[in-house]
Amino acid sequence: MKVLGIETSCDDTGIAILEMEGPCFPPSIQIKANLVSSQVKIHQPWGGVVPILAKREHQKNLLPLLQKALSQTGQLFPEKVIFPPSKKMSLAKIFPKSEEWFSIILSFLQNYRPPDIDLIAVTQGPGLAPALWTGVNFAQALSSSWGTPLIPVNHLEAHLLSSWLPEKEKASPKPVFPLVALIVSGGHTQLVLANRFDRYQLIGETRDDAAGECFDKTARLLGLGYPGGPPIAQAAEKWQTVISQPGKNISAAIEDISLPRPMIQAKNFDFSFAGLKTAVSYLHQRLPSAVKNSSFYPLKMADEIQQAINDVLLKKTIRAARDFRAKGIVLSGGVSANQQLRKRLAEKCRENHLLFFLPPLKFTMDNAAMIALAGYCHQSEAKALSRLPYLQAEAGLSFTEKVAH
Ligand code: KG4
Ligand code: ZN
Repeated sequence: MKVLGIETSCDDTGIAILEMEGPCFPPSIQIKANLVSSQVKIHQPWGGVVPILAKREHQKNLLPLLQKALSQTGQLFPEKVIFPPSKKMSLAKIFPKSEEWFSIILSFLQNYRPPDIDLIAVTQGPGLAPALWTGVNFAQALSSSWGTPLIPVNHLEAHLLSSWLPEKEKASPKPVFPLVALIVSGGHTQLVLANRFDRYQLIGETRDDAAGECFDKTARLLGLGYPGGPPIAQAAEKWQTVISQPGKNISAAIEDISLPRPMIQAKNFDFSFAGLKTAVSYLHQRLPSAVKNSSFYPLKMADEIQQAINDVLLKKTIRAARDFRAKGIVLSGGVSANQQLRKRLAEKCRENHLLFFLPPLKFTMDNAAMIALAGYCHQSEAKALSRLPYLQAEAGLSFTEKVAH
C-alpha cells in the first residue's frame, strides 16, 4: 500500500511517500520519498514560531514538495483532468479564505493525472491551528479530487511510532509491550504507557513548559539562537572538552553554577520546566558582568541546563518503566535528537534490562514519514471524506486516555 504523508503541525513542512505491507503495526516499510522544508530561518528573528508566518510558508511549500515527491517516485504525469463546475465549487469550499492558494492547487489538480496513492495521512493535531489547517485542507483537496481515502493522524502518536521507521536497510526491532514512551518536543513532554499498539494511557506530562521549550527559552536568554536544543547541546559538549583538559583558568563563580531539577523527587510522573527557565534567568541577572563576559560562562550554563533537563527526564522515565512493569522504553520527539539523552537513557535501559527504542536521527524532528506510518497503522479508520463536513484540524488533539496515578 502506498501512503502519502502530510505534516504541517508547526514550522516544518513535510511530504513523504511510503510503501508499506503486512501487519498494521509494525509493517514492513520502504521509504520512497521523504521531504522536509524547514522554516527555522523565517522564525529565527522572532525567537519562536510565528503561527501566521508558518501558515504562509506551508502554503508556499506544500505543492512544490508534493510535486517533487511524486516526481521522485515516478508518478508526476501531466494530463488534463476535467472537473465539472460542481466539483470545483465543492473544492473551493475547503479554502474559504485562501482563494489565491486554491487557484494554484486547482491548476495542479487539473493538469496532472491522479497518482497511484492508496491512502493520504495528514496531521490533524496537536499543533498550531493555522499551520495544521493548511495541511488538513491541502490533504482534503487531494483526497476529494483523487478519490483517495483520508486518515487524520495524531502528531504525538506519530512521534511515538517513528522509532519503527527504518534506517537505510536496517529493520527496526520488534516492539514489546507494555512500553513506556517519553515524547519530548518543542510543544509537549509526555510519559505514555502503551499496553499495545493503539492502547495508550497518559501517565505524566508537563504542567507548564515542554522540555524543548525550556531548551529554546534558555538558549534565547544566553543568546545562543533558535531553536535552542542543538546550540545548547553543542555548548555543553564544548564545556565537557574544556573541563577534561587541565590548566584552564575557570573562576569558581562559573564552576559553582548549579540549577534545580524541578519535580525530580515528586512521586507523580509530571514535569515542570518553567521554574528551570526562571532559575536560569535569575542567575543570569544576578551574576556580575565579569563572570558573564567569560567565554566559559555560556558553556557551563548550557551544560548545566542540559544535565538538569535530562536528569529529570531520565529519572521519571525509568521509574515509570519500573512501576508499570514495562518491558521497554521508547524515546521520541525533537528533543530525542539530544545525544546525551539518547546515550544516558540507553545506559539506564541496559542497567534495568529494558529494551530501548529510538528513532533514527533524521526522524527525530517533525517529518511526514512518521505521519504516513501512523496513517497506515490506522488505515481501517480511513474514510473517503469527499463531502461536507470536511476533516477539521484540532490544535489540542489528544491520543491517550488520561488516568490518575
Ligand atoms: O518535535 P519537534 O521537531 O517539533 C515539535 O513538535 O515541537 O521538536 C522541536 C524541539 C525544539 O524545541 C528543539 O530545540 C528541540 O526539539 N531539539 C533539541 C535538539 N534538537 C532539537 N533539544 C535538545 N537537543 C537537541 N539536539
Ligand atoms: Zn513534533
